[in-house]
Amino acid sequence: MIRYFPLRDVILEFAILLRNGHPWCSGNDSDVAVGILGRRASGLCQSQRMTWPTPEPLTAARLMLEPLSVMHATSMIDVLAASSLYDFTGGEKPSLKQLENRYAAQVVGHSEDGSQWWLNWVVIQRHERQPVGFVQATVANDGAQLVADIAWVISPSWQGRGFASEAAQAMLEWLRSHGVHHFTAHIHPANRASMHVAQNQGLCATLSEKDGETRWQTHSSSSDTCEMCRDES
Ligand SMILES: CC(C)(COP(=O)(O)OP(=O)(O)OC[C@H]1O[C@@H](n2cnc3c(N)ncnc32)[C@H](O)[C@@H]1OP(=O)(O)O)[C@@H](O)C(=O)NCCC(=O)NCCS
Repeated sequence: MIRYFPLRDVILEFAILLRNGHPWCSGNDSDVAVGILGRRASGLCQSQRMTWPTPEPLTAARLMLEPLSVMHATSMIDVLAASSLYDFTGGEKPSLKQLENRYAAQVVGHSEDGSQWWLNWVVIQRHERQPVGFVQATVANDGAQLVADIAWVISPSWQGRGFASEAAQAMLEWLRSHGVHHFTAHIHPANRASMHVAQNQGLCATLSEKDGETRWQTHSSSSDTCEMCRDES
């Protein structure tokens, strides 16, 4: 599932040549390809070749979410320049060439076998028309349902204004309208801002940890509380 993990960019930029692997996403051993809507899914699953919808521009109160294009690399260089962005995830600011390569891989929109749907939006502050960060999701079937692993990044200049939460909400609403109702995120246990963003979207921490990150997920039932939430994997 998706991971915000810039160290993987090195591997990823190599993978562009091979057209294999999603930027900042680790593989999911058990992913089985299905479509985004139940009945469509089974037929598509058999073929293992997916046709995923194209991401659309989204509008929130103070933000626009633009589907990622390679052309965004130029304006995103500054957004991704601060070293503090990588405190909990590793990695470092990309060069323009690296970012262009990364975006070229991401805009493919799906894994080579079609089992994963890759979604990336650049977050634009509407008033000043400034890019301020990005949100992303990787959607796959976990054997029972479609699950989106989600991540967010907002430039330090724009943090603390609720932008990550607002952008995440817009993304999740769009995903729900496309049949995705279950969400996970992988967050370093000291990354309090990111944990708040996840909580704001109704995710809760599980007991599952991998590579130093805690798995967060949507509640399995409406009666769950975060304290009750337990990892199901
Ligand atoms: C995580 C990140 C996207 C948050 O962006 P943001 O736009 O500042 O987030 P928001 O303004 O929506 O804040 C969300 C919540 O976090 C809280 N928060 C923000 N910074 C915080 C901090 N340093 N410590 C504790 N809480 C913090 C806010 O008060 C808010 O809480 P509330 O909604 O309960 O009032 C941003 O810090 C970032 O890009 N970090 C680096 C990249 C990263 O780690 N991404 C996550 C990978 S899992």
